[in-house]
Amino acid sequence: MNKYAIILSAGKGTRMKTELPKCAYPLYGKPMINYILENLRASGINDIWTIVGHKKEVFEEMLKDTVNYAVQNEQLGTGHAVKMAALAMKDLKGITIILAGDTPLIDSKTISDAIDYHNKQKHTMTIVSTDMDNPFSYGRIVRNKAGNVIAIREEKDCSEQEKLIKEINSGLYVIDNQKLFWALERITNNNVKNEYYLTDIVGLLQEKEKIGTYKIADADILIGINDLVTLSEVEQIIKNRIDLDLMQKGINLINRASIFIGPDVKIEEGVTIYPNTILSGPTIIGKEAIIGPNSEIHNSMIGSQTKITHSVIYNSKVGNGNYIGPYAHIRDNSVLASNNRIGNFVEVKSAAIKDNVMACHLAYLGDAEIGSRANIGCGAVTVNFDGKNKHKTVIGKDAFIGCNVNLIAPLTIGDNAFIACGTTLGENLDNNTFAISRPELKKKPNKFK
Ligand code: UD1
Ligand code: CA
Repeated sequence: MNKYAIILSAGKGTRMKTELPKCAYPLYGKPMINYILENLRASGINDIWTIVGHKKEVFEEMLKDTVNYAVQNEQLGTGHAVKMAALAMKDLKGITIILAGDTPLIDSKTISDAIDYHNKQKHTMTIVSTDMDNPFSYGRIVRNKAGNVIAIREEKDCSEQEKLIKEINSGLYVIDNQKLFWALERITNNNVKNEYYLTDIVGLLQEKEKIGTYKIADADILIGINDLVTLSEVEQIIKNRIDLDLMQKGINLINRASIFIGPDVKIEEGVTIYPNTILSGPTIIGKEAIIGPNSEIHNSMIGSQTKITHSVIYNSKVGNGNYIGPYAHIRDNSVLASNNRIGNFVEVKSAAIKDNVMACHLAYLGDAEIGSRANIGCGAVTVNFDGKNKHKTVIGKDAFIGCNVNLIAPLTIGDNAFIACGTTLGENLDNNTFAISRPELKKKPNKFK
């Protein structure tokens, strides 16, 4: 049977009090809707309609053509939203999974299990539900005396009696396409909020069709994010899952409350992470690396047994056995091979550094290639910018660049060259050559004191 999905994400998210559409809002470092897309795909659903409206360009820019879009220009309710996709899907037969873009903890297993249950029970519609101690703000599952589902009632439309119902609607449904389309034609906005509620299809279908709930025990995974308070609660749940999984795999998180490890970070065994460290984006940390304290690594690969302390690394690759920091900054597609020493206040930008290079203090290495075992003295600078363009510096292997040397790019320094401290060099230097440029020293009586 063909399987489709509709994600409701057109809403403003008024309760979030932010400009960004709610479902694009970052949740522990990744847009909320991406969690749902990944989980749908993991449960074998690739034909996905995303309902967009408020700031739809944000989604189009973010998701490109990985999903189908259905536009809901006015947010007239969840039923109206699904109708926008139904118009495009009207000839498709099979089942559709409907879920909201603001329930990111619903995992792929829950989705797959709900579909299996739906098929086994031969339901027309399956509503994923759970019992919540505090069901406030959720739609309640209303049953008749026989225990059959006859309606979902929204908080604002509930009678005092119905408000006591603990079983809530998660907003995740599995439903037969054609029955869905039939019911959507018949819903009205005759309710307290004057919205077209998707949940009203239950009342319309219940007489003739088999509707049931797939009730799950873990209410946490059904939390819907409506404001920044719930966002923070969900972040805590995600953080706990990530951290516990890592610790069980032998990764030592010291004072883990102060550590942020994003959902797309991969860490190999034997790694130690010290406090106040942020690892984000699709970052990989190799075996037995030591990271932190006070370090930030984004979208980068770190090799095994590399040590990074009090430093920032963005969009770069750092190989095995390097020692970075304290206070180094490595960025913009820099690639460091192995066993380098990049120390205090050294900035490495778009540079390819071979192995065993020493740049221990106060240097700028931008748009550069640096050969093995080169020594970069304290205060050495690749002068890469002429005010208009960036130029490249190539430093050969075993070269010695003295303290406070300016290398005015473009230029190439040969292997085994030696540049004396204080030199400003604006031309190439051959292999095995010594260079010095230093103003003459004058000594005079001190007139200043
Ligand atoms: C909805 C359900 C409620 C359920 C809860 C679970 C309805 C009427 N109610 O309530 O039964 O318990 O989810 O979290 O369906 N959206 C649109 N277009 C619109 C309105 C909303 O795309 O016109 C999107 C929102 O962006 C959001 C989702 O639909 O992602 C749900 O809307 P929201 O307003 O958060 O519904 P709830 O009040 O939480
Ligand atoms: Ca919601």
